[in-house]
Amino acid sequence: MTVTLGILGVGHMTGAMVEGWARLPEGERPRFFLSPRNAERAAALAAALGAEVMESNAAVVEASDIVVLGVRPWQAEEAFKGLPWREGQLALSVIAGIKQAVLADWVAPAKVVRAMPVTACAFGESANALYPADPEAKALMEGLGAVSELDDESAFDRLAVHGCTYGWLLSLLEDITQWSIEAGIPPEAARRHVAQTFRAAGTTALEDPSPVSDLVDELGSPGSFTGKGLETLRGQDYFGPWRAALDRIRQEYDG
Ligand SMILES: NC(=O)c1ccc[n+]([C@@H]2O[C@H](COP(=O)([O-])OP(=O)(O)OC[C@H]3O[C@@H](n4cnc5c(N)ncnc54)[C@H](OP(=O)(O)O)[C@@H]3O)[C@@H](O)[C@H]2O)c1
Repeated sequence: MTVTLGILGVGHMTGAMVEGWARLPEGERPRFFLSPRNAERAAALAAALGAEVMESNAAVVEASDIVVLGVRPWQAEEAFKGLPWREGQLALSVIAGIKQAVLADWVAPAKVVRAMPVTACAFGESANALYPADPEAKALMEGLGAVSELDDESAFDRLAVHGCTYGWLLSLLEDITQWSIEAGIPPEAARRHVAQTFRAAGTTALEDPSPVSDLVDELGSPGSFTGKGLETLRGQDYFGPWRAALDRIRQEYDG
């Protein structure tokens, strides 16, 4: 049976999620009901992917088995409280930093599951953190990429920090690409090759069962070019600013 999927907060993140789910084969693809707020983006998704724009948030909740909660954190309480939530409904929040118990109070008696995807879900390649373990939410999120389920909400909030790591890695990718272009490589080749190099590192970490530190030691043996570069990076404590950024977001999520 086709899942009915409502979206409250039709924005950057949920737009990418809808794009990802719309790529699923017929039969697995949900039927989408969009909030009318942000009319332009909702109309664009409706035209491109056959989603339906509803007349109100209440109509979205009434029409949907699963409702994705995708507004900004400070918009959430006003957006969700007082809507016709019902028993047996799943409210799947992608909102950073708002705890399950707080959301559950606003959307009772619906069940709340928290997810932290990244916009690569538009290509089915997201890394999705999920709390708590829930087969219905897991099945849905697997349509957008790999799922890491956690049964501890603080651990989830720590893993969710990597929703930001994704953006920082894209920024690093851009800087390395710019360096390559300045070194004389045609922009398209530079972008493609650097992006594939990031993917190659991820694939090796996922597929090779060796400890990653062993893989790094092997690649960066003393005297090798990779080793010389690592010496420069480590000599300048290259991970220091990354640790500071990770700690900062972790503290913000902890409130
Ligand atoms: N961006 C990411 O990569 C990313 C990754 C993981 C998680 N998230 C989470 O996703 C959430 C949304 O982020 P975003 O970047 O997608 O923000 P966004 O593009 O601003 O999307 C939020 C949308 O919610 C709408 N909205 C506000 N109040 C509403 C209401 N009462 N009813 C219905 N819709 C309402 C906003 O409309 P207006 O513009 O009119 O206010 C906007 O269209 C955040 O909580 C964030 O933590 C984002």
